[in-house]
Amino acid sequence: MIYLDNASTTPPLKVVVDEVVRQLSHYGSIGRGSGRNSELSTGIYEHGRNVIKKFFGADSEKYTAFYTNSTTDGMNKLASALTNIDKPVLVVSTRMEHHSNDLPWKERAYVEYVEVDQEGHLILGDFAEILGRDRYRDMEKYVTVTAASNVTGYVNPVHAIARIAHSYGAKIIVDGAQIAAHRPFSMTGKSVEEDIDFFVFSAHKMYSPFGGGAVIGLTHVLNNHIPEFYGGGAVITVDDDHATYTQAPELYEAGSPNFPAVVGMLKSIEALNGIGFGRIQRHQDELFHQALKGLSAIPEVTLYGTNYVDRVGIIPFTIDGITPQVAAERLSTEYGISLRYAAFCAHPYVRRLTSTLHETDMVPEGMLRASIGIHNTPRDIVALIKGCKGLTNR
Ligand code: ALA
Repeated sequence: MIYLDNASTTPPLKVVVDEVVRQLSHYGSIGRGSGRNSELSTGIYEHGRNVIKKFFGADSEKYTAFYTNSTTDGMNKLASALTNIDKPVLVVSTRMEHHSNDLPWKERAYVEYVEVDQEGHLILGDFAEILGRDRYRDMEKYVTVTAASNVTGYVNPVHAIARIAHSYGAKIIVDGAQIAAHRPFSMTGKSVEEDIDFFVFSAHKMYSPFGGGAVIGLTHVLNNHIPEFYGGGAVITVDDDHATYTQAPELYEAGSPNFPAVVGMLKSIEALNGIGFGRIQRHQDELFHQALKGLSAIPEVTLYGTNYVDRVGIIPFTIDGITPQVAAERLSTEYGISLRYAAFCAHPYVRRLTSTLHETDMVPEGMLRASIGIHNTPRDIVALIKGCKGLTNR
């Protein structure tokens, strides 16, 4: 099997699986019990917060990291907390976002969207134009934007966007799902105006199994809100009528945590650091350009979003005369290639790229998407190109 669906989820590294299995033999309750197993597990779990902050360049004093199950889980917890105030909230999102960084805000706040152009680039001028509207002057303001698109792989200038957001008194949330395993990312900008306020990511896109992730955010802001997610661990005390809530990060982690997922995530971070992002990026760029060259030489193939300087290894395309679903099924059954098809939980963006914006009554047919991980080889890309040629009878 040739696995080219790394933007959906990455296969776990062997060192990660081994470490998770090792810890499964002796874990104990986190932050709740006494005894050796509980102490060991709690130590790993608590120390992990600093590991994560360091990996994403977040100052340990200024930021808190709380664990989540995924980017979707993190975004929902964050959105439920930040919108839980007695003041109207404006969220400036973009038409590039996947649903996890759209629906949690759309359902809870007043949302405006930065548009994309025909090639799918963010129209950066929209941020200031929307944030500067007089009618939003007294609202609590947030900007939320992806660091890299899960459809085109475009890497966005999030620190420059942070500067714009802050100049209008807004805070910035960055969706890190597609950047975390592919580029070094620092929440710290060149100056404080360019710092990222909240960063959300999933570990299952970082070569760790499903169920891990975290939100890193400004401690003083997180302490001023309460997420809509209640239970043990998030409280100091409860009497018959009231609960007194604790502070971040525990405030955001009600219930027994997913310790194996945290173990996997920490081991993945260690492994990615060991390999080094220079090597990761060079390898990915090489395969990415090999794929672009090979696919663009097939006349029936249309590539999307080719006009961009910085992209993670994501290649969206269609093949004339064959629907993305049928093409994906045939690539799988006839050529052993796994990739993703349709609209990648980013329907508004895919509708724009495929000019089906007005076909709102049906799920977009969408595209095919090949996405590269650290385990892929040039032979995998040769197989992809051969498979696509095969589907066109070339
Ligand atoms: N957002 C994930 C993807 O792009 C699920 O496939």
